[in-house]
Amino acid sequence: MQNWSEDSLNLSRAHYDEAASYWGKWADQLAEQQIKVNLGLLAAAAVKPGARLLDLASGAGEPAVTASAMVGAEGLVTATDISVPMVQALAQRLARLGLSNVTCRQADMEALPFADGSFDAVTCRYGLMYARDAVRALSEAARVVRPAGRIAVMVWGPEANNSVVFHGMRAANTFLGGPMPEEGFLAATRFAEPGVLAAMMTSAGLVDAREQELIVEPRIKVGIPFWAPLLEMNATEVWTGLTPDEQKKAHQAVAQAYEPFRDGDHYMLKSHMRIVSAKRPETTASQA
Ligand SMILES: C[S@@+](CC[C@H](N)C(=O)[O-])C[C@H]1O[C@@H](n2cnc3c(N)ncnc32)[C@H](O)[C@@H]1O
Repeated sequence: MQNWSEDSLNLSRAHYDEAASYWGKWADQLAEQQIKVNLGLLAAAAVKPGARLLDLASGAGEPAVTASAMVGAEGLVTATDISVPMVQALAQRLARLGLSNVTCRQADMEALPFADGSFDAVTCRYGLMYARDAVRALSEAARVVRPAGRIAVMVWGPEANNSVVFHGMRAANTFLGGPMPEEGFLAATRFAEPGVLAAMMTSAGLVDAREQELIVEPRIKVGIPFWAPLLEMNATEVWTGLTPDEQKKAHQAVAQAYEPFRDGDHYMLKSHMRIVSAKRPETTASQA
């Protein structure tokens, strides 16, 4: 699946608008759990103290907020998202955290409102798959990064290797009557296979593509409802209309679905991410 159908794209956009307050609610806790993957992504973009970093499709602010400490007082992180409610949720988070070197604004990654060469690096975590045309989004990133600046993108690996997220999402989706169409699941993992994203980066005019896989295997104690953010952030449209009793039943259904992953008093789970980075050439063809 290379590009979205118009219907699914609209559904996805409406979903993120509606889910934004829940993304804001869970942002700090999830960022803490995902510190390792965030640092991996920022390292792939060669983010350094003093850097001007652009983060695309930032949602409630990752990896932009994590990058704040890395760029330091001399640097600046610009976090962007197409969803206005998502940018508002992020602005609230930034104000709460008191971060003065992270700013946010509404922006479509396929038509960035920035001048050529404005940034030292560009990141995008779990967002490129939602572009209407991902090569176009990468071309825009290539335009706004300085010559030799790196662009690093993190995407999901195959669904079968991502029990932490996709198993719970599937179970919740089934229990709640299928609010997320199959295309939504397919889109989330559409860059899962090795080489796909690197080839797109090359098509976008970037060079020196590098690819790495990140596999983590968390052991989570039984009794911790680690799927709670999934229910609220991914099934929002249905979740907000449920009674407390129905919400409890949804939790029980997802907990039941994780039983096959249980070994004694722990769930043995897996997450598989792919980080692909490439850089803008030192000189463009017209300069050479
Ligand atoms: C799965 S969330 C990822 C958010 C964040 N980067 C994270 O990892 O937590 C995907 C985000 O992409 C945003 N998005 C979708 N299409 C976009 C576009 N064309 N330009 C910018 N953001 C977009 C959505 O609004 C949503 O916030």
